[in-house]
Amino acid sequence: MSTPNPEQLRKAVARYATGVAIVTTTDANGQPAGMTVNSFASVSLEPALVLWSVGEHAPEFATFIAASATAIHVLGASQVALSNRFANPTVDKFDGIDWRPGDQGTPLLADCPVCLQCTAVQTIEAGDHRILVAQVESVDVRHDEAPLLFYASGYREIGAALDSGWS
Ligand SMILES: Cc1cc2nc3c(=O)[nH]c(=O)nc-3n(C[C@H](O)[C@H](O)[C@H](O)COP(=O)(O)O)c2cc1C
Repeated sequence: MSTPNPEQLRKAVARYATGVAIVTTTDANGQPAGMTVNSFASVSLEPALVLWSVGEHAPEFATFIAASATAIHVLGASQVALSNRFANPTVDKFDGIDWRPGDQGTPLLADCPVCLQCTAVQTIEAGDHRILVAQVESVDVRHDEAPLLFYASGYREIGAALDSGWS
């Protein structure tokens, strides 16, 4: 066994296909903040818990570590441009974007297939990232658009359904 170097590990775990989400919050100055993530995962149904992780070098790191409320938006296949915008620290991410404040003031992005309004529960140090565990306070499934997928460092659309063998 040999310890993988970061590039080897990045390439290996990139073969694990994920969805794409945008997490939003309000920063200490009351300004909307957000970033694209593929580390989002469901954790627990009762209580309703989810997690995602933020890199300690991410420009929004301090904002999300301090955030008591977030909104997690699952992206649809038509939202590549929105995903790229919220992954780009050099643009004004909310300029021209359709959003409204949620129950806790958190920006809710229009048109995303699913929006979860959350409150922060736990922050776990994990190497060069922090894992953020959040309680889901409300679920809004808005429409059935096929998901945006992320695989091998690129975007994908969902393919044919396979026979699971359990129906
Ligand atoms: C599809 C996709 C998934 C991403 N997932 C994460 C993530 O889970 N956690 C994270 O901290 N950054 C993630 N990022 C990176 C951030 O969205 C953002 O690009 C980065 O924080 C910008 O800072 P940088 O230019 O210094 O890398 C992801 C980016 C993309 C395009």
